[in-house]
Amino acid sequence: MKIESIHAEFGARISGADLSQPLSDRDFEQIDLAANRYSFLLFEDQQMNDGAHLDFTRRFGQLEEEHVSYYSQGKITYIGLVGNVDVEGNKTTPRRNKSARGNEMWHSDSSFREIPAMYSILSAYEVPDEAGETEFASARAAYRRLDQRTRELIEDRVGIHDYIYSRTKMGEDAVNQSQRTYMHPVRQRLVRQNPVTGERNVFVGSHVKQIEGMPDAEAKALIRRLIDEVTRPESVYRHRWRVGDLVIWDNRCILHRGCGYDEQKYRRRMHQTRVRGSMPSIAEPLD
Ligand code: SIN
Repeated sequence: MKIESIHAEFGARISGADLSQPLSDRDFEQIDLAANRYSFLLFEDQQMNDGAHLDFTRRFGQLEEEHVSYYSQGKITYIGLVGNVDVEGNKTTPRRNKSARGNEMWHSDSSFREIPAMYSILSAYEVPDEAGETEFASARAAYRRLDQRTRELIEDRVGIHDYIYSRTKMGEDAVNQSQRTYMHPVRQRLVRQNPVTGERNVFVGSHVKQIEGMPDAEAKALIRRLIDEVTRPESVYRHRWRVGDLVIWDNRCILHRGCGYDEQKYRRRMHQTRVRGSMPSIAEPLD
């Protein structure tokens, strides 16, 4: 396997790995270490199917159930559909598209769950001829740039993450009644630390609505400032998708967002799995 960096701050392309086949322990260990180090990995020209995708995901830990079906219908599935094509292969409805457009705000997947996701793994099957990119940025690189005063200000702070808050920015009908009933705000540390590399990062994104113990206006301004710091234009890697791309990102320290595309004209079909985190972020130690 060959590992090459793709951005000055994070991210690598790995070639010479066929993820549709079982990986040796040695190859998996290299990928696992690279995921901890680089936070974002790109594998090109993969011939994936859902079975291989799930097997690969399980190597990293426990699968996280897809949240839209889970909180809307109580249904457990581990493959999330990203784009505008449903499980039968038909184009999805405008309401579903409106909710999916919430992904065009900078976020960390499942930060609204008590145990936030560790990795997301996204595999591209159909991509638009133009646009439809996904952007990524490193909250670790942003933490390194923060001045000491800001680091002290956020060290022991807790952010409140709320899916209903973030999704309804797209419109009140972007969530349904079942989601309103079952999806509650959760507490997440504002600073996290990777247990393998020891590197710290800020943990923010569109789902954060408050910071505990901070006046609302001050908290909103701080959240905005931290997101802006993570996503400075020069710090962003924009991924232009090709069929057969598979990417992994570390939700503990990467923010990402979809860039939008012409949903009427094009089909976009990507399958996503998530690896559950190991504990509530609030219980993670900082040394
Ligand atoms: C996501 O937010 O997980 C997907 C972003 C995209 O649609 O590119």
